[in-house]
Amino acid sequence: MYCLARINSRRSFYIFILCTTMVTVTWFHQGPWFQNVYLYMQSNTELASSTSGENTAILRALHPIMTSLNWTRNRKSIGALKIKEHTEALKPCLSSSEIPKVRIDPRKNKTTLARVNAEIFGSMVRKVRHAAGTANKSLPSILMKRRSIQKAASSIDQTISKMNLAVDVDDYRVLPGGHWIPLSCRPLWKVAIVVGFRNRFQHLPIFLRHIVPLLKRQKLEFSIFISEQRNNLLFNKAMVMNIGFIEAMEFNDFDCVVFHDVDHLAMNVRNYYGCENMPKHFESGEPKWNWKLPYQELFGGAVGVTTSQFVEINGFPNVYWGWGGEDDDFYNRVVANGFKPSRPEGEIGYFDTIEHNSKDSSRLNIAKFCLQKQCAERMSTDGLSNLKYEPPTIELHPLYTNISVNIQRLPWNPKWKRCDTLDTMYSL
Ligand code: BGC
Repeated sequence: MYCLARINSRRSFYIFILCTTMVTVTWFHQGPWFQNVYLYMQSNTELASSTSGENTAILRALHPIMTSLNWTRNRKSIGALKIKEHTEALKPCLSSSEIPKVRIDPRKNKTTLARVNAEIFGSMVRKVRHAAGTANKSLPSILMKRRSIQKAASSIDQTISKMNLAVDVDDYRVLPGGHWIPLSCRPLWKVAIVVGFRNRFQHLPIFLRHIVPLLKRQKLEFSIFISEQRNNLLFNKAMVMNIGFIEAMEFNDFDCVVFHDVDHLAMNVRNYYGCENMPKHFESGEPKWNWKLPYQELFGGAVGVTTSQFVEINGFPNVYWGWGGEDDDFYNRVVANGFKPSRPEGEIGYFDTIEHNSKDSSRLNIAKFCLQKQCAERMSTDGLSNLKYEPPTIELHPLYTNISVNIQRLPWNPKWKRCDTLDTMYSL
């Protein structure tokens, strides 16, 4: 009605067109059961024109880190939150070259979330746990508001911060769901760590015990999202990471996203998780490969992109069910979009991994070779652009946010060549 009432001037006409478009777009994308992904998406045609389509040209070696981005970048506001006592007088936080050289020997012995919470939050642990519990009670209504047609303007973190549930720990302010904001300096980057996850509950506390202190030493603003597949279909890590990305952006306006395996532990504090030299593969070697990589184009374990790069690349492919291949496909997308991925050299990029018995690892993806051969034809049409999923269950924990989702196979686009093995391989 508001749009119609104002149609009597030229300026109003444009407002009318804008309003109508917004209402139409919103209307078309509200499905009763599925969450359609339409935020920030380019149209498929735009994406198609930005990819070269030359599959042969895409396999190139990774570049060691060389170029540095603009260091002088300062945040105008601290995170999504305006922390009152912050002033422009605060110095920017550490750049990667200022991080002290520290090699960490990861502790891989078993632990529990309760112990890790106590270790990381110290005397504030009760307060932080209580804050997470309180925030969880309000979360369903916050989510409903954000998912409703009149999308709430404030992010989830902003809404939660207004509830006075942040707790100061060391020189950080921590929001329920594990969003850490430095208090003594202006953070250079706001990083979402997204972990594609299923059935690795024994690894989670070990991972958190390791990564949280590392990111704090790098003086980053960060948040950890555990994006969990909740069903018995084969593990589709790529799809749950796409979902983790979309959901993370509901929480805050992250600059960069690091997609991380839960069993990978960076061994050097200088392996910087800020948005430098992105897209970036963080690993140069691990013990099982004699501190090397099996092949130069490897792009799994821990990879980072800026938020806009991830959207431009159209995210991960959604068609990889079972272990392997999705990261190789993602690498091809990165290169096909004209990006030169980087990687730290030598010790800085060493990772240790947590052992697990092969029984609990996912079944091999038998279609991966076939899918990889045809990756170019799906780049612009399979990924963030066709992602649909049931609204996930979201839970805020002291150290992380859990996004649990019952993903399903997405419709096969008739323009993509089929891989024969695919039909038989979705369930365990
Ligand atoms: C798989 C990748 C995996 C790599 C290293 C390749 O064969 O396709 O998904 O990251 O091996 O384990």
